[in-house]
Amino acid sequence: MILLGIETSCDETALCLLEKKGEEFRILANIVHSQIELHKEYGGVFPALAKREHIKNLPILYAQILKDAKIKENKIEAIAVTEGPGLEPALWTGILFAKELAERLSLPIIPVNHMEGHIVSTLLESSLVSEHFSQLKRLELPALAILISGGHTEIVQVEKLGTYKILGRTRDDAIGEAFDKVARMLNIPYPGGPEISRLAAEARAESLPETISLPRPMIHSKDLDFSFSGLKTHVLYMLKEKELTPLLTKEIAREFEDAVTEVLIAKVTQALEDHECKTLIVGGGVIANTHIRASFERLANQFSIPLYLPAPGTTGDNALMIALCGVLAGHPLPKTKGPSSITARGNLSLESRD
Ligand code: KG4
Ligand code: ZN
Repeated sequence: MILLGIETSCDETALCLLEKKGEEFRILANIVHSQIELHKEYGGVFPALAKREHIKNLPILYAQILKDAKIKENKIEAIAVTEGPGLEPALWTGILFAKELAERLSLPIIPVNHMEGHIVSTLLESSLVSEHFSQLKRLELPALAILISGGHTEIVQVEKLGTYKILGRTRDDAIGEAFDKVARMLNIPYPGGPEISRLAAEARAESLPETISLPRPMIHSKDLDFSFSGLKTHVLYMLKEKELTPLLTKEIAREFEDAVTEVLIAKVTQALEDHECKTLIVGGGVIANTHIRASFERLANQFSIPLYLPAPGTTGDNALMIALCGVLAGHPLPKTKGPSSITARGNLSLESRD
C-alpha cells in the first residue's frame, strides 16, 4: 500500500509518501517545508500567515513529492491527514487539500492525531528516505509516552496503539513554549529552544560557575502535572535586576535547561514507579535537546527498560509520522469516516475515541 501523509498543524507544511509491503516500510519521499523564517518577526507562529503559506505551498510540494518519489498520483491508495491538535486555520488547509485530492482520486482519508504521530515516530527503525526498507520496533506494552513539544507536555499511558490515558499534563505553558519564551527574553529569535540548548551546552563545557538559581516548579506536587509558566516570570524578574551580558545569557540557558530537565525526569520517575511500563517513549520537538535526551537515556538505564526516541530527522513536525499512523490505523484497508465528516480539531486529545 502507498499512502500520502499530510501535516499542517503548525508552521511546517509536510508531505510524505510511505509504502508498506508486508511488515516493511519504505519512505518513497518525505518533504518538510518550514515557515520559521516568516514567523520569526512575530516572535511565534502567526496563524493567519501559517494558513496562507500552507495554502500556497501544498500544491507545489505535492507536485514535488510525486517527482521525488518517481510515482504517478494514481499509485496513491489512501491519504492520512492531521485533524488535530494544532492551529485550526492551519489544520483546515491540510484537511481541505486532502478532501479535494481524495475526491479527485477516489481515495479514503484517515484522520490522524498529531500527538499519536509523535508517539509513532519513535517506532521506525530507520527514517532514511527511499531504497531502504525499515521495520517497526517491537513495542512491549503497556508503554509510557512522554510528549514534549511546542504545544504539549504530557505523560501518557499507552495500553496499545490507539488507546491512551493521559496521566499528567502541563497546567499552563508547554515545555517547548517555555524554551521559546525564555529565549525571547534573552533576545534569541523564535524558536529559541535549539539556541538555548546550544548556549547551555557551552556553559557546561566551560564549567561556568552557578551564580543564579531557578525554581523546579511542581517537582514535589505528587501528581504528574507540570507548570512551566512561572519560570519565565522568574527570568523576567532576574533580568530587571541584572544586566543581560553574554555570560549571564549562558548561565540562564543552563539553569533553565537544568530546571525543566529535573522536573521532567522527576515526574517520569514517579510515573515509572506508579504505573506498569515495559517501554519508555519520548517524542516531540524538544527531544532534539541533547541534555534532555541524555537524561532520559540514564533514566531508562536505571529502570532497565527500552527507550524509544524518534528516528533521526523526525523529532520535529513531519508527515512521515502522520503517514505511519495512517498505515497502522488501516489494516488491510484504511477505515475511513468518509471525507466529508473530517473537521479540524484544535484541541483534540489523545483520549478521544471517535
Ligand atoms: O514537536 P514540535 O516540532 O512542534 C509542535 O508540535 O509543537 O516542537 C517544537 C518545539 C519548539 O518549541 C522548539 O523550540 C522546541 O521544540 N525545540 C527544542 C529543541 N529543538 C526544538 N527545545 C529545546 N531544545 C532543542 N534542541
Ligand atoms: Zn508536534
